Amino acid sequence: MQIRDERDEDAAAISRITAAAFASAPHSSGTEARIVEALRQAGALAISLVATSDDGPIVGHIAFSPVQIDGAAGRWYGLGPVSVTPDLQSQGVGSVLICEGLVRLAALGADGCVVLGDPAYYRRFCFLDDRWLTYGGKPSRYFQRLVLKGGAPKGDVSFHPAFDVA
Ligand SMILES: CC(C)(COP(=O)(O)OP(=O)(O)OC[C@H]1O[C@@H](n2cnc3c(N)ncnc32)[C@H](O)[C@@H]1OP(=O)(O)O)[C@@H](O)C(=O)NCCC(=O)NCCS
Repeated sequence: MQIRDERDEDAAAISRITAAAFASAPHSSGTEARIVEALRQAGALAISLVATSDDGPIVGHIAFSPVQIDGAAGRWYGLGPVSVTPDLQSQGVGSVLICEGLVRLAALGADGCVVLGDPAYYRRFCFLDDRWLTYGGKPSRYFQRLVLKGGAPKGDVSFHPAFDVA
């Protein structure tokens, strides 16, 4: 398996894999593929990585985009959507994408990353919930952050408007 930046010609495959990965996810909004497309269109895919199998096809994807804290832009990013093609899930592809993405974020000079997801999964990458960093004004064990540099911020996080795509 290899990890690389997305290329122009990957867009359709990324949409397909995102839709397929989330099709049976209980928490899916059904809009994840469109969110990735909207982020791309807005120039807000700060990092967009694909995992490819040895014979070439894309088997996974991860996006990172800037978030705001209390309405202010900074150097914090949101992880997601992250998707692995259904027949290759639970074989480490998602973990490799997340770890490589976090390394790339650190190299970009990011201060940190947030994610909305299952703490049982994201804990293994050192994400923690934090009552001082909220999403929608409410503390939630599903909203977690990872500090890469400096201190832990306080405030309410908003994702890029592309996440509101219907
Ligand atoms: C979530 C996802 C990206 C993880 O990638 P993956 O390659 O399947 O996962 P990995 O092989 O790195 O890790 C496997 C472990 O994660 C767990 N896991 C996988 N998806 C999980 C989820 N959504 N919530 C909690 N745990 C999850 C597996 O049970 C397994 O646990 P184990 O190591 O204790 O056996 C992938 O399963 C996927 O595309 N799921 C559908 C879309 C989705 O839910 N995306 C994330 C939204 S926050």
